[in-house]
Amino acid sequence: MLVLANSDLSTANTLALPCIADYKLVVDCAEQLVDAIAFANEKNLPWLVLGQGSNVVLPIKLHAVVIYLNIVGVAIRADNGSSVKVVVGAGEPWHNLVKNLLQQGIFGLENLALIPGLAGAAPVQNIGAYGREISEFIDSVEVYDTEQQEVRCLSRSECDFSYRSSVFKTAGKHRYIITGLNLLLSIKDQIDISYGGLATELKNIAAPTAANVFDAVVRIRSSKLPDPAVQPNAGSFFKNPVIEASHYQQLLTTYPDLVGYPQVDGRFKLAAGWLIDNAGWKGKAIGPVATHTKQALVLVNLGTATRDDVLNYAAALSTAIEDLYKVQLQREPVAYSANCQRLA
Ligand code: EPU
Repeated sequence: MLVLANSDLSTANTLALPCIADYKLVVDCAEQLVDAIAFANEKNLPWLVLGQGSNVVLPIKLHAVVIYLNIVGVAIRADNGSSVKVVVGAGEPWHNLVKNLLQQGIFGLENLALIPGLAGAAPVQNIGAYGREISEFIDSVEVYDTEQQEVRCLSRSECDFSYRSSVFKTAGKHRYIITGLNLLLSIKDQIDISYGGLATELKNIAAPTAANVFDAVVRIRSSKLPDPAVQPNAGSFFKNPVIEASHYQQLLTTYPDLVGYPQVDGRFKLAAGWLIDNAGWKGKAIGPVATHTKQALVLVNLGTATRDDVLNYAAALSTAIEDLYKVQLQREPVAYSANCQRLA
């Protein structure tokens, strides 16, 4: 286990926020997590597992032990005629995994191309894009259960997946540490292009393949979403809010172009990006923070932003959205206090 004191995390979070953590530990296997947690307890510090930091808002000083899981490797196991089980270490970069599997004739993840972060982080917020969510492909998730102090395998139903959520968010940050994924994927080139923009992007291809879908998703994402390496960001900064049908109908009378999707429970999920854009906040900067000029749901660090700059911007934006539409935005990335508590 590698131990580093006063570790600079400014290049280890995709918003590029300045952050110095008391300690950084790099562990190579699930068993070493016991030592890592014991280390934090000895130092009387809280601990936090980070991957590529693509979904966090970090403080300038983080009094914590930050644990990195260098658990890599991908194994492909036959399942039945049309599917395969793929065992993935938590430390594998997600996009490379999607690309490599596709090249080996293993399909299903192509709609989830180009999502930043590591495989181990993917189930936490149930990453989803272009009509698909990772939960559809999860057979089980391997974890270290800090409560039972044992390595366990949680079935898909135990993961309790829903839109942008899972048991890994709701059970508290200290309960489970994800060490690997068991995916169930297809060797049949079947695609899902039901998400509006995707079908349009592929309209000139008579019989699109999974590789075409992968390319199309990469094209669409690259055209709308800023590359964190160029313009630091944490992807969608807010969830798409779900509102009652009566509220939706009422908003439609004022905003006939409002973008909303009916849900199975009769409610409507609104495109928060549309709400922000229509409110005139697309591209608007306050100090070193702005919404992205091509996708208003993404906040970007213009260069010198700190956690507080980002949270103050988000608060001002949320107030403007609530005043205009009576809709509350909920933050998607997790923000931390200096003593490593999650901020509301
Ligand atoms: N829209 C605007 N203006 C904007 C942004 C969006 O009018 O500035 C409109 C679009 O024209 C479209 C609708 O809002 O009609 C939805 O936009 P988009 O297809 O870009 O998707 P989204 O709902 O804004 C969600 C995910 C993204 C994911 C895309 C594609 C959430 C919170 N975000 O965004 O996920 O890539 O769908 O499936 O659900 C992420 O989580 O980091 C992320 C990028």
